[in-house]
Amino acid sequence: MTHIYDSPATLTKAYANHLQQLSAQVLENQETFSWALSGGNTPKLLFSILAKEYRESIPWNRIHIYWGDERCVAPDDEESNYFQAYKSLLRHIPIPQENIHRIKGENDPREEAIRYAEKLSKKLPSDKGWPVFDLIWLGLGTDGHTASIFPGQEHLFHSEKNCAVSTHPQTLQKRVSLTGGPINQAKRVHFLVTGAAKAPIVRDILQGLKNYPASLVNNQNELIWFLDQEAGQFLSGI
Ligand code: 6PG
Repeated sequence: MTHIYDSPATLTKAYANHLQQLSAQVLENQETFSWALSGGNTPKLLFSILAKEYRESIPWNRIHIYWGDERCVAPDDEESNYFQAYKSLLRHIPIPQENIHRIKGENDPREEAIRYAEKLSKKLPSDKGWPVFDLIWLGLGTDGHTASIFPGQEHLFHSEKNCAVSTHPQTLQKRVSLTGGPINQAKRVHFLVTGAAKAPIVRDILQGLKNYPASLVNNQNELIWFLDQEAGQFLSGI
């Protein structure tokens, strides 16, 4: 399923509202809501809207924040997905520290992948042996990567572990990433993708024209692509 909006601003406002309604609905039937964030730049606008306009209307004390992937850098490094979320969202909302479950980019990557995988198994309900998130946000790279599963490293998506260590193909930066198990077992996966640069990749994936790491995301519970007009410009009648 795809939702296409005129601009990143309208997408962001609509998605923030959707998130507020979704969390309220889920929290009618369970105590907490587990949400894995994506990294990169796309989420920043949404973080700022949530921080400004949803400080009170989302029960942040019942929201547990995780990450779909993290760069292996210090938590105060500009490259850190945690740091970006902290700056734009987390420090502006009344979320208890114990609800923030960051991937520790400062740790040894392999050890951290094991630690985080064990944490997910301990903290989240499981189904078919995988930890189950209420919601996973994913972004899309212009090379078709998602989380930190890059082209040529698709075997990591098929790992039997919850997390894997990948290597950014250009910078050789180590990353810790969720694998396909938790991603495809989540109750909901939402891609948030904006900008013309992503349009050919979005078309190729959604029309099955070419395979990328993001093509491997085939969550059978809920998979929704939230796009702006530019990113969705090559989709005809989907
Ligand atoms: C990361 C991400 C990655 C990101 C895409 C899109 O750590 O970089 O999690 O998967 O979502 O690269 O990034 P942009 O939003 O910056 O285009």
